[in-house]
Amino acid sequence: MAASTSPSLSLDIHLGAEDLRAELERDVKSGLGGARKSLPPKWFYDTVGSKLFEEITELPEYYPTRAERALLELHAADIAVLARSDTLVELGAGSCEKTRLLLDALAASGEVRRYVPFDVSADFLKASAADLSRDYEGLQVHAVVGDFLCHLDAIPGAGRRLVAFLGGTIGNLVPTQRRRFLAALRGSMGPSDHLLLGTDLVKDVARILAAYDDAAGVTARFNRNVLSVVNRELEADFVPSRFDHVVRWDPYARWVEMHLRSDRDQLVHIGALGLTVPFARDEELLTEISAKFTPAGVEAEMVRAGFTVDRQWGADHGEFLLTLAHPGSRR
Ligand code: SAH
Ligand code: AVI
Repeated sequence: MAASTSPSLSLDIHLGAEDLRAELERDVKSGLGGARKSLPPKWFYDTVGSKLFEEITELPEYYPTRAERALLELHAADIAVLARSDTLVELGAGSCEKTRLLLDALAASGEVRRYVPFDVSADFLKASAADLSRDYEGLQVHAVVGDFLCHLDAIPGAGRRLVAFLGGTIGNLVPTQRRRFLAALRGSMGPSDHLLLGTDLVKDVARILAAYDDAAGVTARFNRNVLSVVNRELEADFVPSRFDHVVRWDPYARWVEMHLRSDRDQLVHIGALGLTVPFARDEELLTEISAKFTPAGVEAEMVRAGFTVDRQWGADHGEFLLTLAHPGSRR
């Protein structure tokens, strides 16, 4: 469904309210119905959750956004020269804030005609895209509401595209999802397109854990917000304060996990599904993994998906990594 909002701002909705509701029902049934409870992280991001994520990015403990922005400030010009793109696509665009560095660099080294922010969070995306459109006169902003795990084909294909997937969001996918996602993305890209991938790097575990368990408790609110989303959308009766925010490092998988741990034996009713979910005291609900990478590991995953890596920034003892790649020959 396409809705035009102004001559330079348009919106495509590939995931409407009804589809979202059906997906949430499916995820809640399968994620809360079994013995090991989990919910996919995309449900954090209603408007409240998206704003809480923006607050997280300003926290002293949450280094990834600052580290990635610093890399973009230093290297966006090089990225623009290498990619020579006239269209910037951004997956999981959120506030579209760091995007501005890329748009400015692309404009300085050539001509940038179009920006395609793509996100599952419709209202937040609309507001971010409108803000950006106001600031970039002459830029076509074509926002797309969709799920990057299933709607990559909804992204307009015209132009020489730079597809940016920033923030370390790829780390929120489990390895099989990551593999499928990268292969699908590679398949959707033309020979003159480039991918710019932001990934958080493995580092001192205490530093990582602090980033996900800040002193002000903003990440805890972000984590519990998923319960409020299920309450609102599926008439459930979670009492968020009865769930503790728990963060753990898995040294084998090299990811940080966020859980919600029930502080008592309790029953939660999901009215819209006619489901009663028992939680034992100390039982945990997995809400997110956030994988941390090495530069060689990122390159290996990209090559395996059929990309050729052009360059990496931040690989030498950096906190965060940017990798620029283009579709290459398959192995
Ligand atoms: N890129 C921004 C925002 C990162 S937060 C940054 O670097 O700061 C992650 C973003 O991805 C959110 O805006 C969220 O709504 C979006 N998102 C999460 N899962 C998604 C999915 N499956 N499909 C599309 N967008 C998704
Ligand atoms: C969006 N994503 C990369 C963030 C992360 O760091 O994994 C989400 C987040 N979760 C807790 N804090 C931030």
